[in-house]
Amino acid sequence: MKLIIDPGGPLLGVVDADLPGDKSISHRAALFAALATGTSRIENFQVSGVTRPLLRALTALGVRNRLDGHSLTVEGKGLSGLSSPASTIDCGNSATSLRLLAGALAAAGIDAKLDGSSGLRQRPMQRIVEPLRQMGVPIKASPSGTAPLRLSARPTSSPLTPLHYTLPVASAQVSSCLLLAGLGAAGTTILKEPGPSRDHTVRMLTSMGVRFTSRQETSPNGNEYVIEMTPPRPMVLSPLAMTIPGDPSAAAFLIVAALITPGSALTINNICLNPGRTGLVDALHSMGAAITVNNLHTSAGEPVGDLSVSASVLHGTEVSGELVVRMIDEFPIFAVAAALAMGTTIVRDAAELRLKESDRIALLAAEMRLLGAEVEEHADGFTINGGTLRGGSVQSHGDHRLAMALAVAGLAAETSVLIQGAECMDESFPGFSRVLQKLGASLRTEEPN
Ligand code: S3P
Repeated sequence: MKLIIDPGGPLLGVVDADLPGDKSISHRAALFAALATGTSRIENFQVSGVTRPLLRALTALGVRNRLDGHSLTVEGKGLSGLSSPASTIDCGNSATSLRLLAGALAAAGIDAKLDGSSGLRQRPMQRIVEPLRQMGVPIKASPSGTAPLRLSARPTSSPLTPLHYTLPVASAQVSSCLLLAGLGAAGTTILKEPGPSRDHTVRMLTSMGVRFTSRQETSPNGNEYVIEMTPPRPMVLSPLAMTIPGDPSAAAFLIVAALITPGSALTINNICLNPGRTGLVDALHSMGAAITVNNLHTSAGEPVGDLSVSASVLHGTEVSGELVVRMIDEFPIFAVAAALAMGTTIVRDAAELRLKESDRIALLAAEMRLLGAEVEEHADGFTINGGTLRGGSVQSHGDHRLAMALAVAGLAAETSVLIQGAECMDESFPGFSRVLQKLGASLRTEEPN
């Protein structure tokens, strides 16, 4: 599908129910509910290209689940109640599903093969396979250290070895995988991470009866974030009853759209403001963005609030270190803000971006240059000399966040932007172009002949 977006707006209005429920929390809620004993009820579940395969995976594991709009009901079986799937579990494009399922199935001790799309098969899996093996999990990846992953059955009478492990890179998917595996270990799991990654797993499992302590330590290499988890005995998790807050990584596109489109003023309600997710707002504040947080409160164990955003003159900034971890999914849209800011923006310490749904340094630089941006690529980031964008024809490369960022660029370019392969936007923000249109953007889609 081609999406053509014209310059101009303004974008005005209130975004509420149109913002999808958070992707990370939706994945966790569905999976953790399956591991609980009893029926969980989850409202505002994100129904999208990346969460549907996870629901099918739960069915394949013998866990009944039902979606009614965005309300999800899951009849949890407990870790020991999961059945070995009859065929390979297809995680589609979702690395979160694959990595978190690997941890949960390791704890359950069942036979399973986990696989996914050609894109997912390129994502690194050695980062979970190696520590899982240290726990005694019988797991194999393909020779290149990628999916498919094969887990072999293990007698549940022999629990896994509790892991004490330092993650080489901060990753909530890796720490969540290892914490889930730790539910099947005989004792306390201790993880150390070099950065403050999103802690939704700790918050949600705490509400289900798991005991955690978290602390920050200083090491010669900088800060370390330490998590200690002790599973309940017997290993029974309480079911969930929760409403998932709005996805800050989806809201990010609307926030930048309002900042760069003259005359815009948006209110976006009920956004998850977990500190592991608010790096983009902090970076934009340092560029002079007019964003205010209102009605800050706690919901489902997460900080939640409303954001008011209005069009702003932005200045270049620098992003590195822990801030990178706190905005890891937001660099495609951040690059659009940087390209339209006055002065230079430098991103460092972000080599992880090369391992996302696409190489988000190389492809972002290439596509932004096609729109007239001045971008220099580094091994671990990029430099953008801000100014104006010309417009033109670009490719999504199947990366949902790249596609949505390029669409937003079209609002403030000199001429229209045409995005090829725009259908991938449905992976994490179904209805994205409809929401932009409702707020005042001029856009149209064309199906291939
Ligand atoms: C996620 C963690 C991040 C993020 C991804 C979702 C999660 O990945 O990029 O979109 O839900 O835990 P990493 O853990 O690989 O940084």
